[in-house]
Amino acid sequence: MIDIHTHILPGIDDGSRNIKESIDILKELISQGVKEIIATPHIISGVYDNTRKIIDEKIEELNSEITTYKLPIRIHKGAELYCEPNLIEKTKREDLSLAGSKYILIESDMQRFPDNFENILYQFQIAGYTPILAHAERFAPFINDFNYLLDIINRGILVQINSGSLFGDYGDNVQKLAHKILKTGCVHFIASDVHGLNKRPIMLKEAYQFLSENFNENLPKLLMNENPKRLIQNKEIENMVENYYVEEKTKQTLKEKIKNFFRI
Ligand SMILES: [Fe+2]
Repeated sequence: MIDIHTHILPGIDDGSRNIKESIDILKELISQGVKEIIATPHIISGVYDNTRKIIDEKIEELNSEITTYKLPIRIHKGAELYCEPNLIEKTKREDLSLAGSKYILIESDMQRFPDNFENILYQFQIAGYTPILAHAERFAPFINDFNYLLDIINRGILVQINSGSLFGDYGDNVQKLAHKILKTGCVHFIASDVHGLNKRPIMLKEAYQFLSENFNENLPKLLMNENPKRLIQNKEIENMVENYYVEEKTKQTLKEKIKNFFRI
């Protein structure tokens, strides 16, 4: 797996607090089957004023620990951009895309998007970037109006959802929307958005299994491996695999399976 959304870099946002915690998180990611990650520290003016230089230094620091501990994982540079004025200029100036690609990870206030939100996304597209909405299922405007999310996707914006959302880590409404997003095919990536081992469980392995069992075994591969790989290689991102969704009513319960097996 490749995890495209992590707060792994120590001490520069509300994620990992120190290098030891970063190493512990990396070990947990590895045990879940993750081989590559993108480090995406928050960038919020006046709160987390992270620059390219700070991010590069922290990645270098973590990489030397990875070498020391011989951890089988690779880290790519990235950032989680908070939607605010002059963001495009800052993104260009500081080179804040994901893994040096044209893709950027963007978030906003959870309760309310800025008035010119669609326009900011469009301006990024005009500038040659492809925005990916971080944890789209957590935003109140989409919880209240699913068509709004469809509209955003139709504009060529990509969607990432958090593994933990599928299991109710952020409440019922978020879980419900995460499932709806999956069922309707409005998703391109699943990632952990890990902030620390004590905050929320990573749940990537569970998400992979959940998708294989409830949808189609190609779906977790696409959302947690192939699309992230394409992102890192700066290739176009594919949409959903065909016929991945099996209607609930066509699934057999264990009782029905036994009945059919014995043709009772
Ligand atoms: Fe995040």
